[in-house]
Amino acid sequence: MKVGVYDSGIGGLSVVKSLLAHQLFQEIIYYGDTARVPYGIKDKNTIIRYALETVEFFKNFELDFIIVACNTVSAYALAEMREIATCPVYGVVEAGVLACGNSLKKKDSNILILGTKATIHSKAYEHGLAHLGFTNLQAKATGLFVPLVEEEIYSGPILEETFKYYFKDSTPPDAIILGCTHFPLISDALSQYFKTSTKLIHSGDAIVEYLEKEFTFKKRFKNPQMKFFASENPDALKLIAKKWLKES
Ligand code: DGL
Repeated sequence: MKVGVYDSGIGGLSVVKSLLAHQLFQEIIYYGDTARVPYGIKDKNTIIRYALETVEFFKNFELDFIIVACNTVSAYALAEMREIATCPVYGVVEAGVLACGNSLKKKDSNILILGTKATIHSKAYEHGLAHLGFTNLQAKATGLFVPLVEEEIYSGPILEETFKYYFKDSTPPDAIILGCTHFPLISDALSQYFKTSTKLIHSGDAIVEYLEKEFTFKKRFKNPQMKFFASENPDALKLIAKKWLKES
């Protein structure tokens, strides 16, 4: 069981963390397009072009699955990737929508969708959730969280101010979709900010839940082989991976 995990940069490591926790794969090949991050402010055609290049890159590895950890790519390029891929391709948006549906009983639950500009603009989460019958949706592009997480700011006054800036008019939601790879790293701060029992939908856990439902994983792999590739400065990616994944 060999999986390729694709993200625009380092954020997809939050998805790798979930895969490791559930020991689903024997080999994980991670590709971060660090030379061209962020994708979240780019247009649809550019995102699709980058995504197709990544499918070609992954063809070198005889993968069993590709997981698109990047919400922005999942929102725009999944169908195009599936057309040219030689293995199944799964994205975190579909999985996140289903996970949200499974964890909320009431269709009028207040769901706050957070993501990059591109993800929010695509309305991919809104369409998916509306399809499941959810009626009370708010969506907010919160791109400033991306550089904050990259700076390893997971709490404290700057983040607090950013929360106030984005959420001053938001009522505490029943659930928040962390619709960007970076946002799980500020989930504790988000919960504290809203001070309610808000459910947080995490892309990594959602994709694991999805795969476990779709497939029977007969074996678990405690120490999978991992390889990290990046379009720029792979050593920096490897260093961050060491740090982010160390408790897995
Ligand atoms: N990986 C992106 C996502 O999940 C966030 C960073 C970016 O804008 O490229 O949408």
